[in-house]
Amino acid sequence: MPHIKIVGLGGSLKPGSASALALSEALRGAEEGGASVELLELHVLDLPMFVPDREPAPSVRRLIESVSAAAGLIWSSPVYHGSMSGAFKNALDWLELLSKHEPPYLTDKIVGLIATAGGVQGLQAINAMEFAVRSLRGYTHPLTAPLDRAWQLFDKSGTFSDEAALAKLRTLGKGVAEAAKRMSR
Ligand SMILES: Cc1cc2nc3c(=O)[nH]c(=O)nc-3n(C[C@H](O)[C@H](O)[C@H](O)COP(=O)(O)O)c2cc1C
Repeated sequence: MPHIKIVGLGGSLKPGSASALALSEALRGAEEGGASVELLELHVLDLPMFVPDREPAPSVRRLIESVSAAAGLIWSSPVYHGSMSGAFKNALDWLELLSKHEPPYLTDKIVGLIATAGGVQGLQAINAMEFAVRSLRGYTHPLTAPLDRAWQLFDKSGTFSDEAALAKLRTLGKGVAEAAKRMSR
């Protein structure tokens, strides 16, 4: 089996966000699936706004290098106004720097999708992210994790306590790792 790396990208700009915690759980699943993992939280990366043709900041270079080296990705965004957050979309806009890579963008990479929602619109952000994966020439994993009413999934200390959601996230992460291995053969 080839050694593969899965990169998790996401979270909101608020430290300890629900979408970041969900992403960490999915990465645990990817580790269970035999991958090495890297977590890129947006509040840590602190990316500038995308400007075409601008010299990339160190945070942007880190994003591009990590995504480029990954066999697969897991994306996790909060739902903001019925779609992915602006901060998450800005990170995807920076992936334009992969346009001249060979192969370009996310060619032959599998992407697992997670969205956390306050209401019941998790799937809308998943669908928006899926459009972006396709435009970046990647493949989405068929299992997705739209986590509706995400505030119900945590206990008072902020620990992920919903067993069904945890199992779904781990299964998604493991599935992404296994699919990435098959695609890397
Ligand atoms: C600016 C803003 C817009 C939001 N819009 C929606 C929305 O359209 N639909 C929804 O279900 N939840 C919405 N929410 C709730 C968040 O999706 C929810 O709290 C999510 O779990 C936050 O994830 P985070 O902790 O990773 O930031 C919104 C929250 C904010 C701050």
